[in-house]
Amino acid sequence: MKRILITGAASGLGLALAKKYAGEGWAVCIADLQDKEGQKIASQLKSQHGSDCFFQHLDITNEDQWQALVNIISERWSGLDALINNAGVASGGTIDTLSLKDFQWTVDINLMGAVKGCYYFVPLLKESSGALINVASMAGLIHMRNMSAYAVSKAGVVALSETLLSELDPFGVKVSVVCPASFPSNLLKTIRSSSSGGVNTAKKLMNRSPVNADDIASMVYDGSRKGKHIIIPTRRESLLWKLKRYFPGLYYIFMKKLVHKIVSK
Ligand SMILES: NC(=O)c1ccc[n+]([C@@H]2O[C@H](COP(=O)([O-])OP(=O)(O)OC[C@H]3O[C@@H](n4cnc5c(N)ncnc54)[C@H](O)[C@@H]3O)[C@@H](O)[C@H]2O)c1
Repeated sequence: MKRILITGAASGLGLALAKKYAGEGWAVCIADLQDKEGQKIASQLKSQHGSDCFFQHLDITNEDQWQALVNIISERWSGLDALINNAGVASGGTIDTLSLKDFQWTVDINLMGAVKGCYYFVPLLKESSGALINVASMAGLIHMRNMSAYAVSKAGVVALSETLLSELDPFGVKVSVVCPASFPSNLLKTIRSSSSGGVNTAKKLMNRSPVNADDIASMVYDGSRKGKHIIIPTRRESLLWKLKRYFPGLYYIFMKKLVHKIVSK
């Protein structure tokens, strides 16, 4: 039986990923801050699919908790086949209004949380020639206004993933980075933002998404199996990413015009 650790699996995309992997017969460790929800999901998945699904409390910013989880997984499973660094938070606001404390909070969780996950679990993935999947965001590839902290944290996750793609290749570890645009989840419940307008816009974008967390989880499962490095779940964003790569001048004009249009409304 294959063994996977998914962070932030008590809600949203992490939960959808836990369901997908358990449904495919994997043993799943659900690691999250939310104990009650996490425990409930783990026991549901265990009774539904019969695989060894269990919950472990984890704050991805806490190194002692990461080390404890390495010990628990090594003892229980004697190894690990895949890690998904999915847990994350959102923040919004212009560079001069979002507090530096909230900027740091975003980077500590989204970027340093993923770095810590890699630091502690890559040795086990090297042993199994397993898979590493980091959940970044479209904001890690395309950097929109009013989201500098979130964009910086997710661009860092993209850079981390690209670095590890070649660094871990000699060990047979496949590395993927997931870059979704907005989709409905509980992300806005914990958002730190300096403007309510930004949160309302984010809500609208989430509700307009052509894909949901279950769709993205299936794309991640298939993409990782095929060894796909960048997984962009929606066509429009995939085109925007191509525009930026192949025609950066045009892309910058497009982004500036877009902001002028929004500001003049
Ligand atoms: N929803 C979107 O529009 C969207 C778009 C692009 C990328 N993402 C990314 O997808 C990932 C999943 O987010 P989601 O949208 O499913 O949100 P969500 O809030 O529904 O789920 C996030 C989970 O992460 C957990 N978490 C937060 N901080 C944690 C910490 N310090 N330690 C452990 N667990 C922690 C939360 O408890 C929660 O269960 C995040 O990395 C997010 O940045 C989301």
